[in-house]
Amino acid sequence: MTQQDVQALISHAQTVAKAAYAPYSHFSVGAALLAEDGRIFTGCNVENASYGATICAERCAVAKAVSEGIRRFTAIAICTADGTPAPPCGICRQVLFEFMPEGKVILWSEEKGTEIFSLSALLPLGFRLENER
Ligand code: THU
Repeated sequence: MTQQDVQALISHAQTVAKAAYAPYSHFSVGAALLAEDGRIFTGCNVENASYGATICAERCAVAKAVSEGIRRFTAIAICTADGTPAPPCGICRQVLFEFMPEGKVILWSEEKGTEIFSLSALLPLGFRLENER
């Protein structure tokens, strides 16, 4: 992953965060997934009056990519519309582990700037069944 990839992913995540539907939490999140073929898939959080039905930005991006036939990713950038930090929730870490167990998680916030983690460091001993992706 190049520095250019990192910048492009952060920029896509910042843009899509503005599309978040977050009338309940007012916490607007954007995510940009880098596929192995170089394509970028974006997602935002989509909340619901039945709070548990809310979809996080990361899972929105994964669902968009998988529905387009893309299942292998190398990195994801996550940020919020207002620049506050947004580390991925536990469910999103597990969902990402299915499709990018060796992938990187890029966080951007005003406070800390760009931080890059291995998904395996954020989710030690993540659960996977060996399958054909
Ligand atoms: N949210 C995400 O989109 N991604 C995360 O990993 C953490 C939480 C959203 C869900 C909800 O709409 C709002 O942030 C507050 O929890």
